[in-house]
Formats: sequence, C-alpha cells, structure tokens
Amino acid sequence: MSEKRTKKRTVATFGKYFTAPSLKDARKRRKDEDSEIIRDSFEVPEDMVNAGIGRKYYIRTYGCQMNEHDTEVMAGIFELLGYEKTELTAEADIILLNTCAVRDTAENKVFGELGHLKYLKASRPDLLLGVCGCMSQEEEVVDTILRKHQHVDMIFGTHNIHRLPQLIKEAYMNKEMVVEVWSQEGDIIENLPKTRLGDLKAWVNITYGCDKFCTYCIIPYTRGKERSRLPEDILAEVEELAQKGYQEITLLGQNVNSYGNDLNGGVYGFANLLEAVQKIAIPRVRFTTSHPWEFTDEMIKIISKGGNMMPHVHLPVQSGSSAILRKMGRLYTREEYLTLYNKIRKNIPNVSITTDIIVGFPNETAEQFEETASLVEQCAFDGAYTFIYSQRDGTPAAKLNDNVPIQEKKQRLQTLNALVNEAALKRNGHFLGEVVEVLVHGESKKNAAVLSGYTPQNKLVNFVGGKDLIGKRLEVKVIQVKNWTLDGEVHNG
Ligand code: SAH
Ligand code: SF4
Ligand code: F3S
Repeated sequence: MSEKRTKKRTVATFGKYFTAPSLKDARKRRKDEDSEIIRDSFEVPEDMVNAGIGRKYYIRTYGCQMNEHDTEVMAGIFELLGYEKTELTAEADIILLNTCAVRDTAENKVFGELGHLKYLKASRPDLLLGVCGCMSQEEEVVDTILRKHQHVDMIFGTHNIHRLPQLIKEAYMNKEMVVEVWSQEGDIIENLPKTRLGDLKAWVNITYGCDKFCTYCIIPYTRGKERSRLPEDILAEVEELAQKGYQEITLLGQNVNSYGNDLNGGVYGFANLLEAVQKIAIPRVRFTTSHPWEFTDEMIKIISKGGNMMPHVHLPVQSGSSAILRKMGRLYTREEYLTLYNKIRKNIPNVSITTDIIVGFPNETAEQFEETASLVEQCAFDGAYTFIYSQRDGTPAAKLNDNVPIQEKKQRLQTLNALVNEAALKRNGHFLGEVVEVLVHGESKKNAAVLSGYTPQNKLVNFVGGKDLIGKRLEVKVIQVKNWTLDGEVHNG
C-alpha cells in the first residue's frame, strides 16, 4: 500500500494504536486514482497462528447484507486462528458487535447491548469485547464508547477487518482500548478467509462503498469510496460456489448498477457481469441493491432472459415527491421512477418489485407525503421496507431544520404501511392456487414441523414437510396468501 493510502488521523492519547475515525476524511473521494486490488495484506503474526485454540468467538451482526458478509469474513479469520464459534455470549472468549449506523434505532440497539455486556465483562475480565462495523466509522460513537463504555477492549472500522489478527493481539497486550479506524480507504482486499453462514445461499460482493451521497445517508462515509472487484475475481468466486453445491448467490453492492464504472473507463458494467454469471451453473442469482439511476435496458434484457436470473428487483424509491427526491439527492423524479418501474414490470415476466421508503424527511409536507402514498397505490409493490427519517450527523440533511413533529411522522408511517400491506396482499393473491418453485432453506422459526423457503420472486413460503427436503428446490402449491408470506403444500405431480 502506498503511504498516501495508509494516511490516518492518529491520536496518541489512548495508546499507540489509536487511529480515530473522521467523517470529514471519509467524505473525500480521490477521483484521480483507481482502487488498488490488494492480495497480500492479510497476514497472521507468527505468535497469533494458534492463538484461538481452546477459545470461542461470538459475533452479533446488525444491519445489511454487507455486514452479514463481513461477519463471514471475520468468522473465517477467527477460525483460521483456531477459535471455535459459539452462539452463547456467556461462553465466548471474544465478542464482536458488528454494528450498523443507518438509523438511530440501529445505533441504540448496540448501545443497549454494550450496557448488558458490561456485567458479563465484569464477571469475566479476560473476555475481549470489540465493536466493529459502520458505527465505528463515526467519531461521535467512538468518543461515546471511550467515555461511557470503558469495558470495550477494541474498536475497529469497516476498512480494518483484514487487520483482525493484529488487533486481537494488541487488545490482549494492551490495558487501554485499542482503536483502529481508517477513514479514507479506497482499496479492495482480496483473498480473505471466509466462513459462510450457510451452505445453500451465499453473498458475493461486487462493489464496496458508495459515491451517491444521498443527503440523508451515512453509508458513503462508513463504507468509503465506491469500488468494484475485478470481474475475474467475482466470476471465480461464483464458479467455486457452484462447484461446492450452493443453490443461490446474491451479488452485493450499495448500488450494483454502477458496477465497473471505476474499472477501465467503465467498459465492462453490471449488465456484462450479469450476462457472465447467467452462464455459470448456479441455479439462482439475485442482486441487491439497484438504484433507479443507471438501471439500463441491457440489464432488463438480460434479467428477462431468465435462466438463473431470479425475477425480483429491489428498487428503492424513497419518496413519491419529486421535490423531496431532489432534496434527497436521488437523481430521478417521480415520473422517471414510474417509467422505469413500468418498464421492468412489462419486460421481465412475473417480476416482483420491492422498495424502500423514507417518511418524514425534513419539512416533508402533507401533500408531499400524499404523493408517496399515491405512488405506492399506483405501483402496488410486492413489498416495502418503510422508515421514519433518522438524522445522521455529518450528512447534508442533518443541517436542515425540521418542522415536522415526530407524532406526524409516525402517523405517516402507519398510513403508508397500511397501503404497502394492502398492495403486497394483492400481489400475493396472484399466486393463490399456483404451483411455485421453492428453495427450501430450513425449518420455520415459529414451528419446527413447518419448512420455509423462497420462490424465484423472493416470496417466503411456509409448508409442512420433512427435514429431508431442506436444501432442495421443489414444487409447492400455494393454498393461502398473507401480506408478507404464502402458505403452501408440497405439490405431487
Ligand atoms: N444502497 C441502498 C440503500 C441502503 S440503506 C439504496 O440506495 O437503495 C437501506 C435503506 O435505509 C435505504 O434505502 C433507505 O430507505 C434507508 N435509510 C438510509 N438512510 C436513512 C436515514 N437517515 N433515515 C431513515 N432511513 C434511511
Ligand atoms: Fe445511501 Fe444513497 Fe448510497 Fe444507497 S445510494 S447507500 S441510500 S447514499
Ligand atoms: Fe448499516 Fe452499514 Fe449496512 S450503516 S445498512 S451496516 S452499510
């Protein structure tokens, strides 16, 4: 790594390893430089090679699929060091909280958990407690942990995961909290170990970071510059997963459409990647998230060819008001979104489309909310994740004075959810009596006699069946539909 790339804001007060985060540095984008693909920066110090033997690790993951996949990488590193996984904090020798910063509710959960873990740590001083993930990238969070949660042993950022062996070593050796958070990173670290959480479905990163800077969103700061993995690395990973018998992969990026923009002048984009993955013998391919911006006709054409491309598009709209969309920095208007939405519905057979919506953006008027409500009615999404706007310090929207009372925002959310549920139920109704293909992933969380799995459209189906069906793709007849799930029975011929 060049010196420029490793430049960090180092604060000496808290011990030699203190590298503080800076949202201001995280905002910087070095347009002049391509990301470096680094294949040799992961190393295990000699005295850490078997450091985990006889010890157990526990990771709690908050937030999105990116974080889930980072957890798999950290699990891989722990296991390489000899640690064994545990599901119980009480028997863990090391606990990591892999955090999410996207809304205050996510952050509050983590602070709550840190409070609980204080007692465990007090009874077991040898326990190592670490905080990683997106919250670690925020200086305010790090300051709060330093002030109020002295029982934390280490904090490290989203760009420092490959340094886990060194950080654990430092934490064992140091009395002070070990903090290492790089803010201005823009590289891709390949060849990290991974222990995948399942043997049926797998995440495959295609891009890291985000350059969209929607005005409400913290992710471009916590995840850094948008950078694409090389096609050959992605395709080799998918091939390997296919050979290992995985049934489904999900290509991951904050905005998968912009895949490749930073490689070789953007000649090989997401549509090319999809086309290449379509040829690999993996039964199901999904991707998330696609921004309505740069969702090309070529992408639609490839997905509509079917094969292993699953007919589901998650297309976050965020708001139905063009004025709010402009303030959010979303780059499209209500009309442009609707045009794209209709094009996808028309061209991809049996597609399901889901979305994300934020209500109560600063100063959102009742009329502007009505525009969101009418868009939801018009689109009749298959499903939607709905959120009340949460102010994220350091983002442009945080500077806006907000005149909408929280009670009003809650009311809007309720109104919206009723519309979302109504539409989802209507869409699900189309499947009643139909025979659908379900990839059975396991027992239902609520009832062990019931199995669950997903259809190509990503609809969750529950049905009665024996454990031997887990891992199979089979035909299920839909006998009842609900807002978010379908009930079915195994179809015999
Ligand atoms: N990259 C994805 C979104 C990732 S975050 C995309 O652009 O679509 C997932 C969702 O969280 C977003 O789509 C948005 O609806 C929501 N979100 C992000 N920041 C938020 C905030 N400050 N307050 C409330 N919801 C937010
Ligand atoms: Fe956040 Fe927007 Fe980037 Fe999505 S595209 S991660 S909402 S800044
Ligand atoms: Fe949360 Fe970070 Fe994902 S903020 S949503 S875990 S990228």
